[in-house]
Amino acid sequence: MELPDYIKARKRSKEKVEIENYEITDDLKEIGKGKKYFLKTYGCQMNEHDSENLKAMLEELSFVEVDDYKKADLVLLNTCSIRENAHNKAFGMLGRLKHIKEKENPNLIVGLCGCMAQEEGVVDHIINKYKWVNFVFGTHNMHRLPFILSDALKKNKQQIEVLSREGNIIEGIPVKRDNPYKAYVNIIYGCDKFCTYCIVPYTRGKQRSRNPKDIIREVEKLVSDGYKEVTLLGQNVNAYGKDFDYQYTMENLLEDVSKTGIERIFFMTSHPWDFTDGLIDVIAKCDNVMPYVHLPVQSGSSRILKLMGRRYTKESYIELFDKIRERIPNVCISTDIIVGFPGEEEEDFQDTLDLVEHCKYDNAFTFIYSPREKTPAAMLKDQVPEEVKEERLQRLNAVVNKYFLENNKKLVGKIVPVLVEGTSEKKNELFGYTNTNKLINFAGRDDLIGKIINVRVTEAKTWSLDGEVVE
Ligand code: SAH
Ligand code: SF4
Ligand code: F3S
Repeated sequence: MELPDYIKARKRSKEKVEIENYEITDDLKEIGKGKKYFLKTYGCQMNEHDSENLKAMLEELSFVEVDDYKKADLVLLNTCSIRENAHNKAFGMLGRLKHIKEKENPNLIVGLCGCMAQEEGVVDHIINKYKWVNFVFGTHNMHRLPFILSDALKKNKQQIEVLSREGNIIEGIPVKRDNPYKAYVNIIYGCDKFCTYCIVPYTRGKQRSRNPKDIIREVEKLVSDGYKEVTLLGQNVNAYGKDFDYQYTMENLLEDVSKTGIERIFFMTSHPWDFTDGLIDVIAKCDNVMPYVHLPVQSGSSRILKLMGRRYTKESYIELFDKIRERIPNVCISTDIIVGFPGEEEEDFQDTLDLVEHCKYDNAFTFIYSPREKTPAAMLKDQVPEEVKEERLQRLNAVVNKYFLENNKKLVGKIVPVLVEGTSEKKNELFGYTNTNKLINFAGRDDLIGKIINVRVTEAKTWSLDGEVVE
């Protein structure tokens, strides 16, 4: 049994990261024969993409996917630690699974992986209170799923294998992509920023950039398979290449990915701290790099930003924001904001509102601060009362929503390029995303699905647009 350890997880070694190839043995390929699996994913795009790998690995073992956990022989939860409610959702699901295992299907196999598996407290709890959970593995050894699962099936004992320190980069893990037109591509794993509120540097380990050649090869394969769009993923994509012993940065990578001929490139997330002028120029210059930047600010108060360890001020953020706006034609910028960080006073919150009034974001993900075990911010004394946090969130949402609508209204009458993804559930219509990542609904023929077409915006809503196809 290998367990997570936060002291080890916090360490950043200078050891060189090697590249290993994914391998499984032939004897494992039938362990799932006749069995169905259900995979539930919580959290960010990185977890969603990991789930695309987990699904492909399970299918290599002959498991077949079902969309109802009640019909499954194996349920795997790919979990998220970022806020308390992500935790609660996963434990709520475990409660439902326990009921099924006790009352309906004692042979049900239950596994837990992802970021929660990297948390000491969670794994302790599973060992002591959730003995019926069959196996647990962490984010650093996801590629070991076939072996861990095989042991869980063979041995009548809980299997726990969580590494506290990241290992090497594993290439060649199979992938079953959810979308046939747009694909996630990992470019950098882990995070070394250690923002004081955040658990990710503990659950995802040291910053490790994938080899540019492997990334380019993956994108070239996607182009030849007919994909139209890639999103380059990392907790902090601007740090790409900083761990190499040669000079190759995010700017170089974006240019090289651009040359593959993929029609649309998005990337996320960008930390304001490492956002260089050169990067802005590359986004502006390359036609297939989309004019969309997710630039989390977290707070508009320089005092709170300092306590958060974000390494920029309100003023320097605004300077960067304005520069991006000015140099990238028709750019849309979105953000993340946390309210109720320990010590946040009304005055600090007013600074956040003031910043939002300046930036008028196209989209914003707003969160109530949630203390995460053993992070520096969770240990600060003056935690903000729950009702104050709630009230600030509502006031903030009212302001951000106003600007989503205002920005969308400016698009009415304009023609925008849209990657058509499918038919919308509610109405007999098509939907897709614009080049600035806005959802748009419009009437059209099914044979447009998978194509990039021009759509004229006819109506603006807060979270979406309506349009008509330009023939
Ligand atoms: N790497 C990205 C963010 C990843 S987490 C970045 O630095 O921008 C996504 C968002 O969750 C963060 O931007 C932050 O707004 C929010 N978040 C992270 N930790 C949180 C916490 N403890 N409580 C509330 N929100 C949090
Ligand atoms: Fe968390 Fe900060 Fe890293 Fe983003 S940059 S993942 S918020 S520590
Ligand atoms: Fe959650 Fe882990 Fe992503 S904590 S937000 S799933 S990196």
